[in-house]
Amino acid sequence: MSHEVIRSTLVPIIYLLSTVLFIFGIKQLAKVKTSRRGNTIAGVGMLLAIIGALLELGVVDYRWIGGGLILGAFIGALFAIRVQMTAMPEMVALFNGFGGIASALVASSVYWSVVIEKKAPGTVYEALGTDEAITVMLSILIGGVTFTGSLVALLKLQGRLRKGQPILLPARHFITFGLLFASVVAGGIAVAAGAPDSMVWVLSLAGGALVLGVLLTIPIGGADMPVVVSLLNSYSGLAASMAGFVIGNPLLIIGGAMVGAAGLILTQIMCVAMNRSLLNVLVGGFGVTDGGGGGSDEYTSVTSCGPEEAAMVLENAESVIIVPGYGLAVAQAQHAVRELADLLKSRGTKVTYGIHPVAGRMPGHMNVLLAEADVPYEELLEMDVINPEFKNTDVVIVLGANDVVNPVASKDPTSPIAGMPILNAHEARSVFVVKRSLSPGYAGIKNELFEYDNTMMVFGDAKKVLQGLIGEVKSL
Ligand code: TAP
Repeated sequence: MSHEVIRSTLVPIIYLLSTVLFIFGIKQLAKVKTSRRGNTIAGVGMLLAIIGALLELGVVDYRWIGGGLILGAFIGALFAIRVQMTAMPEMVALFNGFGGIASALVASSVYWSVVIEKKAPGTVYEALGTDEAITVMLSILIGGVTFTGSLVALLKLQGRLRKGQPILLPARHFITFGLLFASVVAGGIAVAAGAPDSMVWVLSLAGGALVLGVLLTIPIGGADMPVVVSLLNSYSGLAASMAGFVIGNPLLIIGGAMVGAAGLILTQIMCVAMNRSLLNVLVGGFGVTDGGGGGSDEYTSVTSCGPEEAAMVLENAESVIIVPGYGLAVAQAQHAVRELADLLKSRGTKVTYGIHPVAGRMPGHMNVLLAEADVPYEELLEMDVINPEFKNTDVVIVLGANDVVNPVASKDPTSPIAGMPILNAHEARSVFVVKRSLSPGYAGIKNELFEYDNTMMVFGDAKKVLQGLIGEVKSL
């Protein structure tokens, strides 16, 4: 088969197949049960995409391609094997950054080879075509912002940049919008400039984009970073899509657009679940409190007990709902919770888990954590499904969760979490809240639930308390 025939018939079929696999892969990623399969399907789609691109290019030096593939696969596998589950947002941030810079470099290389290297006569848009010239500039702008924005997000998530606290520069909105405007103007001038003169404008655009990424991300608090990472993921998709237009690759356009849309939808879901607008997250400054954002709200009537008392109540419970939160991940108590659930089930108790969409610090955090301990998927019930069940439930065990069970969300319109849908744990007959102290959660506010008559605090590290509970239940 000649190269022309391969390009005109085989390559489009491979690209189409790859697109279909991407779509099915993403669809399956939406459900915990099918997510592993979805990941594999999308991975096969990506392999096909690489094969298609190589066939389309035809004459390439496979030594470089092979070398890059082996090195990249090795580094990727090493990262994936070594990364801790709680460090997943950091890894995603890094990948987004690499995606952004890769797109910007692809676009820059087209500009370099067509305009600068060949000393094209006339303007950049005459040399590249108007569409391509504009998409080159957009790729550099969005890719650059994504790269440095993601690196800052990574450092914030690791608590290495001012311990994740927002960094609020004076007149920051003015500076940021000014720089964005200047970068867009530089890109516009670069498109219309003569070939040799355009270089300085392209470099200004790239520099502006890199600084802009930093400025846009530093005012945002560490705990809001997952939302920002998701948004940067969307940007990296847009940058890839732009690069697809630059090199005329339809699959890159489609794949990039899918990542762009998926990232945006996820960002929106997270904002709705936290009852915050995207603008509110991006403007930054949230979470500047030192943990006591609830003001003078002191607890007056809290009842506490030890694992022994809690086990006695559990002994008589017919139904138990476990509500996991960020503290469960901190305590790495997923295996202990599964052990307790198995024990209760063996004694005839019905056990389910109530999963709040923003429990923890990243989308699907609790699902991933509990899946690690092989908790059956069908026991993990989403908020809308589990909420009507609480009033008919004997015992709720709140494990390292706080904001997601705070009834103030529906009572006090001035609360930072006002309007955030919560898990109605307070409606159960008895509630045990397992945490180390009365410290607030991420939103920094008092939790009314701790003072309810049907609530008992069990103070301690989630894992240790669970181990205590398991011992007590066994001895009953
Ligand atoms: P939080 O409200 O943050 O509360 C977690 C609680 O865990 C803390 O009050 C802490 O209390 C306790 N804890 C920490 N370490 C513990 C340990 N070793 N053992 C037992 N308890 C421990 O968590 P949540 O209820 O999961 O809510 C999540 C919050 O994060 C929401 O406000 C949400 O909006 C926000 N958020 C979520 C996301 C996503 S996508 N999930 C993204 C950004 C922000 P002690 O210190 O007293 O132990």
